[in-house]
Amino acid sequence: MPTLSQCAVSAMEYSKAAEQYEDSWRPGYAERLMRMVRPKPGQHVLDLCCGTGLCLFLLAEALHESNNHLDGGVVIGIDGSPEMLSVAKAKCLTKPHLRNRIRLLQHDVTALEQLGEPHVTPNTYDTIVCSCSFVLFDNPEAVVKRWRRYLKAPVYPPPAHKRHKKDESAAVHARFRHYEPGGTLVVDIPHEASNLGEVIMERVARRLGLKFPSNRSWVKSVDSFREILERNGFKVERVVELDRVSGRGALKYTAYMAVDIYNSMCRSSAFQTMVESARPGFTMAGVVANGLQVFMEEFLREVGPDGRVYESDTMYIYVARRTS
Ligand SMILES: C[S@@+](CC[C@H](N)C(=O)[O-])C[C@H]1O[C@@H](n2cnc3c(N)ncnc32)[C@H](O)[C@@H]1O
Repeated sequence: MPTLSQCAVSAMEYSKAAEQYEDSWRPGYAERLMRMVRPKPGQHVLDLCCGTGLCLFLLAEALHESNNHLDGGVVIGIDGSPEMLSVAKAKCLTKPHLRNRIRLLQHDVTALEQLGEPHVTPNTYDTIVCSCSFVLFDNPEAVVKRWRRYLKAPVYPPPAHKRHKKDESAAVHARFRHYEPGGTLVVDIPHEASNLGEVIMERVARRLGLKFPSNRSWVKSVDSFREILERNGFKVERVVELDRVSGRGALKYTAYMAVDIYNSMCRSSAFQTMVESARPGFTMAGVVANGLQVFMEEFLREVGPDGRVYESDTMYIYVARRTS
């Protein structure tokens, strides 16, 4: 069986639960996140991995209100799962006032260049939003690099040595001072200790020769994503640590709870997708049986000096501007 792309594996996972996706903490979280993103009248926004449109509709409503209900300003939502998009499309039908502001496309957001113009155009968007999805990608650095070119490029005044003496009139001077900031990227990344079962299961999968549908191994601290952004032509304007994302708050476990956490991970849709998308030879029963010992070993590595394992409920929100 050929290896499935990351987008195809994610589509497989989210398509199963598309109808129930919003029966969770996610709508409340999307509202908290979108309070940090207020599009201005006429702006163009990309919502990458838009899913059922939780952020997309909030963005479109904000554009609609800020524009005094006039035309102008669009949110393009892109996702790889047809079932998640169907939920978004059904919601669209109930919001006719947003019809001209929303476009929905099915595509792999890590390969926007294949979607091409006129669907998405480089140097165009005021804001790119990606919520609850970035840690699904195989290569976070490559994705940031690719997305950067779709944001508006900043316009800087020419350096002083490039001006001519005869250009010193007030009008020309004003033009030389002209500066337009680049577009903004808004991405959330789970705290390195949030949803710990998932973090540990990723390591178990690697040791068993499987691929878990998320990739959080590169997230070591709040600085991990900041550094990726700064290496790739962004200035990080704000990092917000949003607490109580799922509503549970931080938790502490003892080593005895590892088996319960393992069992609940085995029932998760991510685990099932991992086994279903694996090469032939892996069965659910086999992986569940072989994974327990490895999970216990990895879990015990997390135990602190107080004999407990700490789980966070925090999301890091990065607001970064394209600078080049
Ligand atoms: C956890 S949901 C997040 C949905 C939405 N952003 C939200 O905040 O509710 C993850 C979404 O990412 C989509 N996805 C994952 N990888 C993708 C890729 N490479 N291209 C397009 N969509 C992708 C999945 O189909 C799924 O709808």
